[in-house]
Amino acid sequence: MKAILLFSAFCAFLFASNATVIRNKKSPQVDVVDAQPCSSNASVAWLDVILIIDTSMHMGAANLKKISSAATLALSKFTIGSNDDISSGSFNTRVAVMTYNYQGAFQALFTDITSISDLTTSLNAIKLSTSPYADLYDPVLRILEWTNSNDPPGSNGRPTVLVFFSASANAPVNMQVPDLIAENFDPYSTTVITVNFNTADSNLTSLLSAITLNQFVNAPMYNLSGTSNSLTRDLEWSLLQANCFCGDGTGIPTILYDSANARYSRYASCMILDQADGYVEGINDICSGDGFVMPAYILTQNKEKFIEGIWNDCDGETCYPFYVGLHKNAKDAWAWYDWDLNEFPPTGYFDWGQGYPVNDGMSNCTVVDSNDGVNFIWRNTPCNTQYSLVLNILCQSHSCDAENSDCINTSYNYDDDQPKGYKKPIKKGTKTGARKRMLTKIKKSKNGKKNIMKNKLPLKA
Ligand SMILES: *[C@@H]1O[C@H](CO)[C@@H](O)[C@H](O)[C@H]1NC(C)=O
Ligand SMILES: *[C@@H]1O[C@H](CO)[C@@H](O)[C@H](O)[C@H]1NC(C)=O
Ligand SMILES: *[C@@H]1O[C@H](CO)[C@@H](O)[C@H](O)[C@H]1NC(C)=O
Ligand SMILES: *[C@@H]1O[C@H](CO)[C@@H](O)[C@H](O)[C@H]1NC(C)=O
Ligand SMILES: *[C@@H]1O[C@H](CO)[C@@H](O)[C@H](O)[C@H]1NC(C)=O
Repeated sequence: MKAILLFSAFCAFLFASNATVIRNKKSPQVDVVDAQPCSSNASVAWLDVILIIDTSMHMGAANLKKISSAATLALSKFTIGSNDDISSGSFNTRVAVMTYNYQGAFQALFTDITSISDLTTSLNAIKLSTSPYADLYDPVLRILEWTNSNDPPGSNGRPTVLVFFSASANAPVNMQVPDLIAENFDPYSTTVITVNFNTADSNLTSLLSAITLNQFVNAPMYNLSGTSNSLTRDLEWSLLQANCFCGDGTGIPTILYDSANARYSRYASCMILDQADGYVEGINDICSGDGFVMPAYILTQNKEKFIEGIWNDCDGETCYPFYVGLHKNAKDAWAWYDWDLNEFPPTGYFDWGQGYPVNDGMSNCTVVDSNDGVNFIWRNTPCNTQYSLVLNILCQSHSCDAENSDCINTSYNYDDDQPKGYKKPIKKGTKTGARKRMLTKIKKSKNGKKNIMKNKLPLKA
């Protein structure tokens, strides 16, 4: 065991300067690392992809060809099929194709595309229009209407991906598209990818940045460029990222800046702020008792900053202090919990507040707290919540990804009287299908503005 630890630590030093990797002994495929990559195995991905292609005159015939070949190449790595039943073990990706200029039109639905050659045929049949208008609102409305039908995107808990290939933002109503999407699609299971074919058009570029704005990191994610010489790879990566998501009620995806690729990336774990049901003697079973895996670990400043950006403000109240997994073990040494609730030693990153850790033989657990209301620090405190008076705890679980569909199949053990600021889990069995899921708005956006859940589709202006 020691040899494995040393070897892994050595590899981490060589290849991943900002993260230390420790192989977990019981589940060797799961690394104890903040930036645990999502599966990159496109052949077993299980996405519902809608390609939405601008055919206004601004696109140009050459770009249409480029879209057809880039989308075909990227999706040729995926298993294309029209089966939506993941529980039967058939992992395939469904693809639909839509065009828009002055209005949107479906070119092919999921059932029309059962192979990559069906997709190529559909894409190659697309013709450029003479319309100067590029209205993105109308295709989005049509997709929302589709969610009422028999074979909607997102059925059976599948993640939905909207991929816009855009060359113009020429339609006044486009200003409302970011809100239309934000208010009607569940940001946990829906990913928007945009491919910009005219980055010189600042109206278009800012529209696509607004559409792809990720509220958890307050920056656009998956806003690709049509002139990128890695467009096919960018598309494949973004699609696999879309398959890496947190199921209903499992929390927020870990999103960290990947400096090697100069972009934000999702990683394969989800975090949620949970609360003990009352005073408990130790913290290590609160998370698992509620269906999550373990108290969260924080091994890098990168992850701590992400956590700080989210759990600072819970609807006007502070979310801290909250427990994380760092604790003193029976050997009086600090340790974190891994994915099997076994212990592993700290990897070098600590963020103790001034005067901490105190060595009083009592304060054997750790809470994340803040002195200035901005920056987080750690304090050690008793594990018995009767003495710490801290009930909040940050829990961590696996996200779904191309090779893991467990997150859509977990049930959670929740009270309805959770304090504000907790993501309200949708109890298993209360879900009435994809449409309800898509219409479920998260409670709070990054800037604190409350989003009102829309019960009916907004009318086109
Ligand atoms: C992808 O997953 C399938 C099913 O688990 C497996 O058979 C295949 O070897 C994997 N491919 C890669 C490249 O890991
Ligand atoms: C979900 O759980 C049920 C019961 O444990 C199991 O039969 C089914 O195969 C699971 N489905 C998936 C997609 O894992
Ligand atoms: C960008 O928007 C402004 C204001 O709506 C408009 O005047 C301008 O013509 C637009 N530019 C393009 C290239 O569409
Ligand atoms: C995507 O957004 C980032 C951050 O705002 C920006 O730097 C980048 O230029 C955008 N990409 C495109 C193609 O617009
Ligand atoms: C804290 O941990 C130390 C070392 O394992 C142990 O001796 C002590 O009893 C623990 N204190 C409490 C309150 O559990």
